[in-house]
Amino acid sequence: MGERKLDRTLGIRTVGIREWKNSKQYNRYEATPYKVLELLCENYKFRDVDRVVDFGCGRGRVAFYLHNRFHIPVVGIEANYKTYEEALENKALYRLRAEHIQAPIKLKYGLAQHYKIDKRDNCFYFFNPFSVKIFKKVVYNILRSVEKDKRTVDLIIYYPLREYKNFLKNCTPFTIINKIKVPGGNDKEDKIIIYRLREEIFNEDECVNFG
Ligand SMILES: C[S@@+](CC[C@H](N)C(=O)[O-])C[C@H]1O[C@@H](n2cnc3c(N)ncnc32)[C@H](O)[C@@H]1O
Repeated sequence: MGERKLDRTLGIRTVGIREWKNSKQYNRYEATPYKVLELLCENYKFRDVDRVVDFGCGRGRVAFYLHNRFHIPVVGIEANYKTYEEALENKALYRLRAEHIQAPIKLKYGLAQHYKIDKRDNCFYFFNPFSVKIFKKVVYNILRSVEKDKRTVDLIIYYPLREYKNFLKNCTPFTIINKIKVPGGNDKEDKIIIYRLREEIFNEDECVNFG
């Protein structure tokens, strides 16, 4: 099924691209392909207790898809006001079909790096939203939240750039738990990497302080 058709099954419109006019730090809007979301869901177990945050949620495809499939709470943060408004329109249309799903959908207009991580947030999704400079700020916010409210958290990164991977490997306690290659992908970045920080790390002898 094509992307537009799959959009229609959720009652949303997410196909297309939107470039930023003058930004080197913020990347353009483009939705995660449905086949990648399908692949993710076949290889990663979303649980009832999960709350997913999509940093740079665009028109909301990832949030609506996961909400619809797993009935879990989702949060989307988007910095482009026009795109954010489109996500809100999508939410209204999607909710007409998904009235029966109790889990909340929260869409926020603002910068990902300013989002206050909630202690219920435990699964963080990124599809090439911004520069590594901003990514670092977001990851440090996550680490501070985990240090305060100890829990296991995952980062799901679709199309991971080298700078993201190097930073996570060299400067954080996250470890890779899965790498999923997109079959027939365009290039070697066309994959999903899942990183985990386990709650048990806090019980180990070593003192964990993320600064
Ligand atoms: C490649 S799109 C991904 C959209 C969506 N996550 C998905 O996978 O379907 C990246 C999105 O991040 C947004 N973005 C860029 N910088 C941002 C920032 N600092 N805070 C929040 N959103 C941002 C862009 O406007 C764009 O909509």
